[in-house]
Amino acid sequence: MDLEQFAALRTPEGSAALHAAARLAGGDPLTAAAALRSAGVPAGLAATALTQAELRRRAVGKFGEAATGMFFTRPGLEQATRQVVARRRAERLRAAGVSTLADLGCGLGADALAAARAGIRVYAVEADPLTAALAEENARATGLADLVTVECGDATAFDVTRVEAVFCDPARRRTGTGRRIFDPNSYSPPWHFVTGLAERVPRTVVKVAPGLDHALIPAGAEAEWVSVDGDLVEAALWCGELAEVPRRATVLKEGPLLNASGIAGGPSYHLAGGGTHRTDGSARAAYQLTGEGATEAPVGPVRRFVYDPDPAVVRAHLVAELAADLGATLADPTIAYLYADAATPTPYARCLEVTDVLPFSLKRLRALLRERRVGRVEILKRGSAVEPERLRRDLRLAGDQPASLVLTRVDAAPTVLVCRPAH
Ligand SMILES: C[S@@+](CC[C@H](N)C(=O)[O-])C[C@H]1O[C@@H](n2cnc3c(N)ncnc32)[C@H](O)[C@@H]1O
Repeated sequence: MDLEQFAALRTPEGSAALHAAARLAGGDPLTAAAALRSAGVPAGLAATALTQAELRRRAVGKFGEAATGMFFTRPGLEQATRQVVARRRAERLRAAGVSTLADLGCGLGADALAAARAGIRVYAVEADPLTAALAEENARATGLADLVTVECGDATAFDVTRVEAVFCDPARRRTGTGRRIFDPNSYSPPWHFVTGLAERVPRTVVKVAPGLDHALIPAGAEAEWVSVDGDLVEAALWCGELAEVPRRATVLKEGPLLNASGIAGGPSYHLAGGGTHRTDGSARAAYQLTGEGATEAPVGPVRRFVYDPDPAVVRAHLVAELAADLGATLADPTIAYLYADAATPTPYARCLEVTDVLPFSLKRLRALLRERRVGRVEILKRGSAVEPERLRRDLRLAGDQPASLVLTRVDAAPTVLVCRPAH
């Protein structure tokens, strides 16, 4: 979409075309285009409206129902922060006393809108004219235009003395190709500007790729990794006065809040490593594990239960803190599976009961699974080069029982653990 096509969508004809396209989105695109054209919508407008309706449909997962009235581009939607994550960040900023915020490189405005919903006055800067126009429209469509001012321009020229805090989510994809950028020096705005912000503004938050090299975390900053329903979605650097702990893993999970006994709705979830929990207002509960991220977990043998830590815990280097809490050990100092004698309910890891431990051998594994009448397996792996799909084929399973296979290393030896759910 370009600015001209966006303007066409905002005319009464465009709005009617969008309305009609919304009813057709998700179906066969050729049939939908034919239906719009037979209703008298010009071909160009029909194509733009159908693309927009399809983007809105996909955006509901990230933005909730508000997406149905917002405007998107494909790259803008891909880069946008999920609402559940943006809202938690905004609420933390508000709780820290922030009332004015600059969003430097605001994209379509997911973070800016969440901050405004939390009651923060936002100055959003976006270099791309179309994206800036859409962000402005999105603020209007969500009733937040009074709290969000969008400026089209270069974020590096923004006068940061105008605000109490800055947020920057630099572009990590190449314009045009959409390819991911792994070198932070090639981010836009560039990394030296982003880290320089933290030196100029006492309250700075930077969203970064979850794969960020720990060596790049500015001294004194808090690094937080966030997962949503088991998917690692982002990392954020909380700098200056906003840093509370060295490392934090925030685990957002569908379902009711659990207490330390794994019972819904109980009192506080206590963790030796410094954990807290709270609900975020949606159906998701938020659990936070915090710590130094520097200690190493003790190593021991494979025990009755294996824990597969959440990716946010692993990336935050908080596996040792979790191990201490669970009374667990590693079986290999470099592999983040934890082993314990008891199955302790925890939101920070999935727990399985180990029924068999075998040195990795296709023949032996196949024989064992045949004997147990296992016909369905899920395959987890850390520290193994085996391709799960190939293994699944090679096992030629026949039976009606399920099992979980954990492919890993124990004492440097390739090992497979046959497991079942821990109750
Ligand atoms: C990752 S996106 C931001 C997404 C946004 N946080 C959201 O959740 O919707 C980064 C944005 O920064 C913009 N950008 C990159 N360099 C910029 C610069 N120097 N000044 C202003 N905007 C810039 C890009 O055009 C892109 O839209």
